[in-house]
Amino acid sequence: MRKKIVAGNWKMNLTQTEGQKLTSEIVNMIKDESTQDVSVVLNPPFVHLQGVQKLIDGASNIHLGAQNCSDKASGAYTGEVSASMLASFGVSYVIIGHSERREYFGETNAMLTDKVKLALENGLTPIFCCGEPLDIREDGTHLAYVTNQLTESLFGFGEEDIKKLVIAYEPIWAIGTGKTASSDQAQEMHAGIREHLASKYGTEIADNLSILYGGSCKPDNAKDIFSKPDVDGGLIGGASLKSRDFTDIVTSF
Ligand code: PGA
Repeated sequence: MRKKIVAGNWKMNLTQTEGQKLTSEIVNMIKDESTQDVSVVLNPPFVHLQGVQKLIDGASNIHLGAQNCSDKASGAYTGEVSASMLASFGVSYVIIGHSERREYFGETNAMLTDKVKLALENGLTPIFCCGEPLDIREDGTHLAYVTNQLTESLFGFGEEDIKKLVIAYEPIWAIGTGKTASSDQAQEMHAGIREHLASKYGTEIADNLSILYGGSCKPDNAKDIFSKPDVDGGLIGGASLKSRDFTDIVTSF
């Protein structure tokens, strides 16, 4: 049985007060309304982690995630945050290789391998992001592009490590644009990702990996997207900043 997961990626938004208010609202709404077995992950900016952690403490289906971690274990890397620090603050998930990190901060497939390795060594669950830009989608080479991202960053890992990952497919042209992939486009890619992972690690491992969809996922399209057999949840940006919208997405299965 694959885990259903809805992760909220706050990106660089919300002050302390706003973050605390949002978290409290989400905790209460999820407690009252979530009936399905869905793991909810909140991924605030680093400075919010401890405050959010206190508010979700005791809510068994809500977990703490970070948006990034360093590709170095420790040392003189000003401004960086390591996987071991995150673990020590009660973080259990970490988004790795978000397209904004790849695009604006020059993160390469090889760097992402190091990040995944450090995350796993510190007991964090990586939410590994992949996804194609618009020109690649228009060329029709999106499946090859995305499977290559996975091959380059992940295929050096053994079965025991791969089993612990969550994959997030986020077509770059759909992120923050209001333009969602259709549920059929999401399904096609998710099935392709699963098949690619199966070709290396076998169907049993691939069938057990959760693959999330991200990119303008909202309350009004989540049900359709989540109804697809290879879509196991979502990585939510904009809509994760509103407690009502986020909860409605969590209850969309
Ligand atoms: P969006 O962002 O939901 O605002 O499109 C998704 C993401 O970047 O994770």
